[in-house]
Amino acid sequence: MANMTDRIVLICLLIFVSLVVCSNKTFENIPDYDLRLEERIVKHGYPVEIHQIITEDGYILVAYRIPHGLKNQETDNKNKSVVLIVHGMGGSAHYFLIQGKERSSPYYFADRGMDVWLFSSRGCETPFEKKHVKLDWNKDSEYWVHSFHEIGIYDLAATIDYILNYTGQEKVTMIGHSAGGNMFYVLMSEKPQYNEKVKLAISWGSSPIIRRMDYPAMIFGIQLGSLVKGVIKLLRMVELIPTVISSLKRPMIELLLKKDPFWFRIFQLGSGVIGTHRSVMHIDEFNPIIVSSMQRVSFKQPSHFIDNVVNGTFRKYDYGPKGNLKLYGQTDPPHYNLSAVTAPSAFFSAPLDGMISLEDVYEAILNLPNTIYLYKIPFYRFNHIDYLFGRNASELVYEPTYQLIKKIDSGVIPPQVEVPSDYR
Ligand SMILES: *[C@@H]1O[C@H](CO)[C@@H](O)[C@H](O)[C@H]1NC(C)=O
Ligand SMILES: *[C@@H]1O[C@H](CO)[C@@H](O)[C@H](O)[C@H]1NC(C)=O
Ligand SMILES: *[C@@H]1O[C@H](CO)[C@@H](O)[C@H](O)[C@H]1NC(C)=O
Ligand SMILES: *[C@@H]1O[C@H](CO)[C@@H](O)[C@H](O)[C@H]1NC(C)=O
Ligand SMILES: *[C@@H]1O[C@H](CO)[C@@H](O)[C@H](O)[C@H]1NC(C)=O
Ligand SMILES: *[C@@H]1O[C@H](CO)[C@@H](O)[C@H](O)[C@H]1NC(C)=O
Repeated sequence: MANMTDRIVLICLLIFVSLVVCSNKTFENIPDYDLRLEERIVKHGYPVEIHQIITEDGYILVAYRIPHGLKNQETDNKNKSVVLIVHGMGGSAHYFLIQGKERSSPYYFADRGMDVWLFSSRGCETPFEKKHVKLDWNKDSEYWVHSFHEIGIYDLAATIDYILNYTGQEKVTMIGHSAGGNMFYVLMSEKPQYNEKVKLAISWGSSPIIRRMDYPAMIFGIQLGSLVKGVIKLLRMVELIPTVISSLKRPMIELLLKKDPFWFRIFQLGSGVIGTHRSVMHIDEFNPIIVSSMQRVSFKQPSHFIDNVVNGTFRKYDYGPKGNLKLYGQTDPPHYNLSAVTAPSAFFSAPLDGMISLEDVYEAILNLPNTIYLYKIPFYRFNHIDYLFGRNASELVYEPTYQLIKKIDSGVIPPQVEVPSDYR
């Protein structure tokens, strides 16, 4: 059960959200926090290419490519390993760049001779005026009817196809953080022909099956989420969550920049909903930029996620018995078929990740046919967001990731990961 502080903090946050959403305050641009992704990369001194990708269902997406690094300036990419980095729910590719020039993961890999691509799902800002061939993302609520299911089978599929065609390579290596990993499992089980196109899928703080969250604020967040979900569904307000996120960003950034200790504490505790508040690794200076990099997220995405966590399974979206019967031919939503995920998987697990426990990763491994690597991060206070913002992420995550990719590239396939029989 959630403890008292967590409840109070969440209630304060809710009140704050309501106040902000109801007020009409407008905010000035804040330089640095309003940088577009390509501007941020240029500011860090790295080359960037912008690629437009149109999905089967008409969404106009962007992928950013960092074709080479500063330490390694080789521009002939024919023999390079293609690495596609995939952000999680509510995040964006910005999140991989927040550590700046010296320490961000895309630069880490580009400097070591990899051809780096950053994925951007539907709902993220793009440099293009149109976000969909027909729909307007500000006016048409239909734009916001999607979860990580659609992002997996359409956005990720289109991005992989685009990259392979553009680079002339046969396979990509994927790195997914948090829900970014789930999109991979959705795609591979729904369209198994994509297994051929993936050399290796690395999950950072991600597991398709989540049933053992240990952090009280998160459990409370899930309960609260279930409640909010019911209300939104009842009122048919699919755009509510995207609107709340866009109206909240500005005032939160301002408060964080003022360094008001009270609001700072609220933010810190509130972010405990994703299991972060016990971190010693995360640099607090990043908070404003973390907030400014949040993207609008469809209501259906957290809703799908919450259903799965509450049920402890990895299933398709639950439309209720009637809707399910019509769509799936059965009253319960069907499970994603993890047996069909034959592309090699690798997992990184952090001791203090309040969202993804090692036991859940074990359970995922038992359900997957081809897991070749499991890395337990050897620092006891590393948590769910430290993969992105943690002080020592380079040594603790990016270097072992790089070593793994190099090993697979050289043709060495590690043995299947064994799960200890007493893991429960
Ligand atoms: C919000 O702004 C609109 C027009 O800009 C104005 O008509 C309305 O009274 C404002 N509402 C509040 C609560 O300030
Ligand atoms: C790519 O690899 C092939 C075969 O190993 C080699 O012949 C070729 O020179 C390499 N090209 C570049 C640009 O490194
Ligand atoms: C594949 O790439 C070429 C150029 O690299 C482009 O002309 C062609 O339209 C692409 N095909 C698809 C299906 O994206
Ligand atoms: C998950 O859902 C199924 C059917 O929808 C139900 O039988 C089962 O009890 C649920 N499990 C949990 C832990 O809620
Ligand atoms: C799941 O995938 C496996 C491997 O491709 C296949 O043999 C099995 O029939 C699939 N199960 C379902 C329920 O589709
Ligand atoms: C983190 O990095 C600092 C400085 O590079 C080093 O002193 C410290 O031991 C590292 N901590 C861990 C857990 O790797």
